Amino acid sequence: MSGKFSQERAPLFEELQRYARQPLVPFHTPGHKAGRGLESGWHAIGFPAQWDVTEIPSFHWAGAWEEAEELAAMFFGADQTFFLTQGASQGIIGGILGLFSPGDTVLVGRNCHRSVIQAIVLAGIHPIFIETEFLPEFYIPTGIHIDSLQKKVREYQDCKGLILTNPTYQGISNRLHTYRKIIGNRILMVDEAHGGHLGWMGLEGFDAAGVADLWVHGTHKVLGSLTQTGMLHIKKGRIDPGRIKTQLDLITSTSPSYILLASLDSSRRYLALDGARMFAEKMPHILEFKESLAQVQRLRVLTKEQLADPDSKVVDPWKLSVHFLLKGLTGYQADTILREKYRIQSEYADISQVTFLAAPWQDPRELDELGRALQDITADDVPREMQPKPYIFGSFPDSIPPLIRSPRDAGLEAGERIPLQKAAGRTSAAVIAAYPPGIPLVAPGELIRTAEIEYIQEILAHQGWVNGVDHQGMIRVTRDK
Ligand SMILES: Cc1ncc(COP(=O)(O)O)c(C=O)c1O
Repeated sequence: MSGKFSQERAPLFEELQRYARQPLVPFHTPGHKAGRGLESGWHAIGFPAQWDVTEIPSFHWAGAWEEAEELAAMFFGADQTFFLTQGASQGIIGGILGLFSPGDTVLVGRNCHRSVIQAIVLAGIHPIFIETEFLPEFYIPTGIHIDSLQKKVREYQDCKGLILTNPTYQGISNRLHTYRKIIGNRILMVDEAHGGHLGWMGLEGFDAAGVADLWVHGTHKVLGSLTQTGMLHIKKGRIDPGRIKTQLDLITSTSPSYILLASLDSSRRYLALDGARMFAEKMPHILEFKESLAQVQRLRVLTKEQLADPDSKVVDPWKLSVHFLLKGLTGYQADTILREKYRIQSEYADISQVTFLAAPWQDPRELDELGRALQDITADDVPREMQPKPYIFGSFPDSIPPLIRSPRDAGLEAGERIPLQKAAGRTSAAVIAAYPPGIPLVAPGELIRTAEIEYIQEILAHQGWVNGVDHQGMIRVTRDK
């Protein structure tokens, strides 16, 4: 296609390039004046300071921005797209504010990112959480329980919609038509932060386009745009695009970075012209790589075969979760060895596993290096002092804590800081998430029970990480007892 809506164009990126080539005498923001106010270290790394431009008449951003978003919408199968410069979190919070009203009952998959919980607090909605399904060998969430969803839809007939996280952080994606069938004509919002590539990589049906009413991409995570960029996509029909825009404006800076915006435009062009083909072409190679790792004794690699229901779920080829417990080595320990001995940095590690994120534009020799390092580690004897204590995964509380106050009231009140061990019976004022499994253990407004406290203590005893518990072991609760 040529002309205005050709994917060969990147209107915002091109306009920024044009402006940067001929800047005017700068008596305007930003204060660094095309870099002259920056420390020399920025110049030493070649930072393009003249690209850090603001909304001035000589920079024709408005039309270019609109056209760039239209091209992105066409590419990602949306009716309309909004560029985000505050990460997927901005799209999730703006999306929830724009879709639901205070007091609305909304079904929410519990395996959600903390931004979903923050949005629930801000929007004043009443969440009905749907239990998470786990893959026991890896102890990672694979999605939500279908039975639980069906039950909750029957129970809360007046619920306005469903908020899902798909794919999961470790790259497990579910067929979204299943959920659409269950919720009928209600709103479906998908946090697709890690899945912007699924649709055009041969995994249609496991992506949100065509099923969801609103979905959010953390474009910087897998697709190659700069850190902090994302996109919010919508399908018109059930929702009001004007309201989404108004609510996004509520939480967005009036001075967005044009470097970030242009990066989204350029990234979309790159994907449309080359990137999407690269994802498809390189897929067999990464699958082969995973397959070869799966043969390594003492490693357990997350592949489709590991899933209980491989027809309704897929594993993102570019995410690689490796489980070391077979050898009595924690994910943290393996990660440290990888970093210190092999100079390899993973995406995420917890007690049980390490997750790696690969990309089609990555040098294939880097995959070979990773493969050799993993083989080496499993061949070596692990020093005795690194042997972890046995870890009992079964102790994750088997029910979601009861909601005893509105998340909005609990999350916005001043609250108080108390020691974790004294928190049983109190109401949480913040999100607490333990890794693993990296999903909310307690949300604002929920009762803190002994089960949650013991789980957190167990994770901490194994040097695990718990978000929401500070380094002195204190948490935030509401003042009421
Ligand atoms: C599933 C999921 N959704 C949303 C986010 C938020 O993304 P961002 O960091 O771009 O705001 C994350 C971040 O890790 C995530 O894992």
